[in-house]
This record gives sequence, structure tokens and C-alpha cells, in this order.
Amino acid sequence: DVGNSTNIRWHNCPVQKADRQELLQQKGCVIWITGLSGSGKSTVACSLSRILHSREKLSYILDGDNVRHGLNRDLGFNPEDRAENIRRIGEVAKLFADAGLICIASLISPSRKDRDACRALLHEGAFIEVFMDVPLQVCEARDPKGLYKLARAGKIKGFTGIDDPYEPPIDSEIVLRQKEQGYDSPSDMAEIIVSYLDEKG
Ligand code: PPS
Repeated sequence: DVGNSTNIRWHNCPVQKADRQELLQQKGCVIWITGLSGSGKSTVACSLSRILHSREKLSYILDGDNVRHGLNRDLGFNPEDRAENIRRIGEVAKLFADAGLICIASLISPSRKDRDACRALLHEGAFIEVFMDVPLQVCEARDPKGLYKLARAGKIKGFTGIDDPYEPPIDSEIVLRQKEQGYDSPSDMAEIIVSYLDEKG
């Protein structure tokens, strides 16, 4: 499917993904971190990137908030724009994975269908979904940017978890949730992801 593009042809280069992976000594993949605002996605993404970097693995974070400052600055938060935000980040993540990088996508991505469409862009095993399973009450109590307060006051319309839906994953590869007592720290959570990656080679 080439969408609206006509008269185009795929161009292949002799330097292939396998060559890049050999050079980098790693396998390209996408770690897709989904969860409510304030669930800790960006902090875990950053912690994960730091650990990988210290192990000489090349990673790159695509953070929803950050990508919305550039590539996706034309998009808002209505359902169509969120779907397009997720689609574009999925396509960029696919390119990064093809480049041989461990691409960490960190965005709310509230719709299961949109997340699954991104998964379908990658080959089996190369899309690792990580669900930040943090209850709304906890995210709202944290409210790091004061956005839940504004949403409750009706000053932001369509805020995820308040008056816009979030569909939790059903079968994500990794679920990160609070411990019975206290929380796992973001670096503990990142270590869980690293262990998974180690295990899968
Ligand atoms: S989405 O749903 O995947 O397209 O969202 P994303 O690109 O991750 O952007 C979420 C960040 O945008 C801020 N923000 C909102 N979030 C949710 N709903 C509404 N209406 C909204 N408006 C602005 C908010 O800071 C989110 O950041 P995080 O990092 O998730 O807290």
C-alpha cells in the first residue's frame, strides 16, 4: 500500500540491515512504552536508554511530547490526530529499527488498534510492547505537569483517562506495575526490560 503516492518504486541498497547490525553488534528493535500521562513512560525510557548506552548498545528515544515539538507539530489530541501521531512514530520507529537501533517509543498511544498497527509494521519479536500499568489515581496524584488538575477543571478537553479513553494492552510483552509496598524505581523497571532483551538475545 503506497497511499496517495503513485509512480514510485522501492530502491534497494547493497548495504543491508544485517550489515548495520553486524557493525553495531546488536539487533534493531522497537520498545513501545504505552501508558497514561504521568505513568512514568519517559522516565523509564530515559533510564533504559542510559543502561543500554552503558552496555554499548545504541538506542534512541522517540517521545510523544518531544516528537510533537517537530515532526508532529501539526497534530493535536483529537482521535484522528492521535492516530496519525502514533502511525508516524510507528513508521519512524520502524526506520530506526531497520537502521539497527534499539528504538524506544514512549507515547500514551491510547488505542489498541493503533498500537497493533505499529506492531504489524515490524517482524515477529521486533516489537516489544511495555505497558506502564499505573492506576489513574496514582498518575493523577503525581500530576507532574499539573495537567490532570486542568483537565478536572475543564480547562483541557479530551484528556486521556479523564474524558478521553485509554485502552490497556491485553497481551503486551512486559507489564510494569507498582509493587505491593512502594514502587519499583524507574531504573528497576528499566532493568526488567533489559532482562527481557537479554533473554531474547
Ligand atoms: S498520544 O495520545 O499518544 O498521541 O499522546 P502523546 O503524543 O504521548 O502526548 C501526550 C503528552 O501530551 C500532553 N497532553 C495530553 N495528553 C493527553 N491528553 C491530552 N488531551 C493532552 N494534551 C496535552 C501531556 O503532557 C502528555 O505527556 P505525558 O508524557 O504522557 O505525560
